[in-house]
Amino acid sequence: MCGIVAYVGPRDAVPILTEGLARLEYRGYDSAGIAVVGRSGDLRVRKSRMRVAELAADLPARFKGGPGIGHTRWATHGEPSDVNAHPHVSGSVALVHNGIIENADELRAKLEADGVVFASETDSEVLAHLIGRSAATELEDAVRQALSQVVGTYGIAVVDTRHPGLLVAARNGSPVVLGIGQKEMFAASDVAALVRYTRQVVHLDDGELATVRADGFRTSTLDARTTRKEPSVIEADDAAYDAEGYAHFMRKEIHEQPAAVERALRGRLDGRFHTAHLGGLALDPREAREIRRVKVLGCGSAYYAGQVGAQLIEELARIPADAEPASEFRYRNPVVEADTLYVAVSQSGETYDTLAAVQELRRKGGRVLGVVNAVGSAIARECDGGVYLHAGPEIAVASTKAYTSTSVVFALLALHLGRIHDLSPADGRRIAEGLRALPGQITEILDQEDRIAGLAREFADYRSMLFIGRVRGWPVAREGAQKLKEVSYVHAEAYPASELKHGPLALIGPELPALAIIPDDELLDKNLSTLGEIRARHGRVLTLGHRALGDDAIVIPKNERELDPILLPIALQLFAYHAAVALGHDVDKPRNLAKSVTVE
Ligand code: AGP
Repeated sequence: MCGIVAYVGPRDAVPILTEGLARLEYRGYDSAGIAVVGRSGDLRVRKSRMRVAELAADLPARFKGGPGIGHTRWATHGEPSDVNAHPHVSGSVALVHNGIIENADELRAKLEADGVVFASETDSEVLAHLIGRSAATELEDAVRQALSQVVGTYGIAVVDTRHPGLLVAARNGSPVVLGIGQKEMFAASDVAALVRYTRQVVHLDDGELATVRADGFRTSTLDARTTRKEPSVIEADDAAYDAEGYAHFMRKEIHEQPAAVERALRGRLDGRFHTAHLGGLALDPREAREIRRVKVLGCGSAYYAGQVGAQLIEELARIPADAEPASEFRYRNPVVEADTLYVAVSQSGETYDTLAAVQELRRKGGRVLGVVNAVGSAIARECDGGVYLHAGPEIAVASTKAYTSTSVVFALLALHLGRIHDLSPADGRRIAEGLRALPGQITEILDQEDRIAGLAREFADYRSMLFIGRVRGWPVAREGAQKLKEVSYVHAEAYPASELKHGPLALIGPELPALAIIPDDELLDKNLSTLGEIRARHGRVLTLGHRALGDDAIVIPKNERELDPILLPIALQLFAYHAAVALGHDVDKPRNLAKSVTVE
């Protein structure tokens, strides 16, 4: 998805912009560009379909200046091309834009009727002209007036040669974060672009605008009311955004999981009462007792981790719980119940559908907790309370460590709610000990990487795979199929094992292998009979569980059965990763996918 970086301060903006854009490359892009106010007050713009490094190398030595803005574009309106690349220029103004202007056609027609000649096919250029043609004397007012005419989502940064000491940024549905330096300021769509320069940041809210100068910033709403912002500190350092010798971020992040889980658990387990403490919940025990239902919302893998969470809450706290895709929930005019606890799950904290579901819930008076990785992100700020994952930045499009940390945080939440309800101290202790064992057991699974890679290479030759699991194994099967599809492009379908006879068994044959999740739990016998049904039809089966059930088997260490859905997916992440590598795909940036989906 598109990326923005901007700088105002005493330094030459150009290397800061190109380094910042390089940090945003992981989000995927088709073109890149920068604009700076030159030392002689002229506007200098370079943009093209080149990679960021090529763009930087291609700049003439005299291409210097500041303030400046930079952009990586992922085409929505208009094909990927040099002219459609950002920044877009109108007179003395240059603008970069993330998001979609929904009424761009209408505004474009009006501007063309006034004689404006467009250089590109983009919706973003409309915004540049609205600002560039404004009669307002202050850039902030010109931006405000322009934004009042647009319908849609935006994160923008704007420079104007008539105002050489500042830049203006604004946000509505597309993230913008300001970075506070020593007598210099930054802005970006993602903290990844800032962390090299500063760890002090301020997240803009929707409908908020910032005028940024080297010595500080001022924020206000679209109707010009001043807002107050508290800076926060980015947890991650620059190394977290570096592949550090790994061929891919996805593999690095898979291997970071023992440490990520340790961070998710740190300081949260209570050895005295065998429960969990989650500081940000904003839910006292009396309120927790009054919860009659839990509804978990998220998209994609966040939703599957949410399904694991709902099962854990129902199993340990005996509160009815289920998960639903946030993208479906928000469109179906949901009934919002006062005694339901809603939990929104998101790695990025910026997924538009999840954010919209949270906003709809809050509007109707629902209580929403966030289980979020990105500190200070829109979803985290929008919720009544919540729990951070502390997984560190996740760069690969395919979620791995954030998925696992989400499941761990849900286990803590389930333990916390369970011990307030009827979970016994003995069971609380059992689950807490199981949680403490996770990092070591994840390492044991990672140690089997070579063997799992061998299996992945073999199975990558099939055109399709069926993933099956029962009850706790069902969200695991869904997440396993999702990972394989996402990075290897091998078609994978997940089914509850119990549903096999009701349809998909017709597909079973030598050409469709199945990956069967068969942990040693109370459903082992049922799963073994499903395994028999598949084998009787000559289907090849790779089993994943606590014992080898044939030649093709991945065996993982045993923990408490409630925690099986945390460990089982680790093997499936390695399986998907190595299938994708074997097939020669761009593992970290799968085709057509973005790391955070900030559009509808
Ligand atoms: C996971 O591998 C996917 N890239 C995707 O399904 C992701 O989990 C989903 O888009 C939600 O993202 P979020 O956690 O940032 O909200």
